[in-house]
Amino acid sequence: MANNKTVFDFDTIIPRQGTGSSKWDAVEKVFGSRDVLPLWVADMDFATPAAVTARLVERAQHPIYAYNTQEAPLYQSFIDWVKHRHHWEIEKDWILLAPGVVPSIILSILALSAPGDGVIIQPPVYPPFFASIKDNDRRIVENPLLVKDDHYEIDFADLEQKLADPHNKLLLFCSPHNPVGRVWRQEELEKIYELCQKYQVDILADEIHNDLVYGEQQHTVLASLGTPVAKETVTFMAASKTFNIAGLNFSFIVVPCKRRRARISSWFGKLHINRNNLFGAVATETAYREGEAWLDSLLQYLEGNADTLIEFVRNRLPGIKVVKPEGTFLAWLDFRAYFANAKELENFLVHKARVGLNPGRNFGSQGEGFARLNFATQRSVLLAGLTRIEKALQEIK
Ligand SMILES: Cc1ncc(COP(=O)(O)O)c(C=O)c1O
Repeated sequence: MANNKTVFDFDTIIPRQGTGSSKWDAVEKVFGSRDVLPLWVADMDFATPAAVTARLVERAQHPIYAYNTQEAPLYQSFIDWVKHRHHWEIEKDWILLAPGVVPSIILSILALSAPGDGVIIQPPVYPPFFASIKDNDRRIVENPLLVKDDHYEIDFADLEQKLADPHNKLLLFCSPHNPVGRVWRQEELEKIYELCQKYQVDILADEIHNDLVYGEQQHTVLASLGTPVAKETVTFMAASKTFNIAGLNFSFIVVPCKRRRARISSWFGKLHINRNNLFGAVATETAYREGEAWLDSLLQYLEGNADTLIEFVRNRLPGIKVVKPEGTFLAWLDFRAYFANAKELENFLVHKARVGLNPGRNFGSQGEGFARLNFATQRSVLLAGLTRIEKALQEIK
């Protein structure tokens, strides 16, 4: 079990009801019942670092929130963070600012492919990956992950087949992977990169969870594998998951290739998405400059939660399978031993156990019979949720 001593308090419950929180306030709308403990949307029930709040309050006290411009220190805070935490050196010119990772993925798909082109994804995977492709008239091409000895791996033989099809132009890659929690090893990333180069397929690398890795794991930025940099990659990063500031809509796109950058940038121009959220910029810069000790402490707490969850499932939820995530604050639970179909499972979770988890089938057909649980909450809340599942399972046995 990870050492849980910390100077930061992650144990005290901060009520979020009535704050416009989708996780807490949209429960009835989403699950059809108010009596559900929410363990779904991928944000955290923890306060952002105090320095971030202080800077936001200070900025809010200047009463003009008009059009803003982003200055060099913001870029530098990101460049320094990525170099320090991920050993990747970025040039300022490579960076585009964006109002979020999903819109950035969509704009990159629009910029780097044509209607009808195939975009490869690796399900089970973050649901907006499917929509980003389908809603923009591209084709979803699935390269499903393989389950091996209780963990997920990439099916490289299948991937090569899909990459070899000249109609498939992009790989939309999730690293670390939501929902299966894999932190891809350097060898795996090298193989992906080599194959994509061989078949001239560009890579859109969603690395939003890159700071959230546990134990000995080290996140490797896929684009850092190129010499000197992978020109065929577009990398999406943000402080939003790491520091719990997703409501401030701010993210980065790193595009080392000038031509690809110009194409993506022109889509921002066409849609006039050329400004950023003022408070998002303030929070992001402050988090990168002053949030590191908080993050290290958070990671210990989250790993403690992951251990608690694994132990609980092993000892008290027999039949349910889960693998300890290497990264992200999400756990992918396999309920197939209990429920014949997704509807039965969802009904059980909401109406019997009274917990709000993300239905696995939203992550692709491979997710039938699974559910995703967000463990970025106070340990007591996590245990309360797991105990609800335990009791409900005892009742149906
Ligand atoms: C893999 C992944 N990408 C993107 C997002 C959302 O990014 P944004 O809110 O910046 O659009 C999430 C949120 O859960 C995610 O898990």
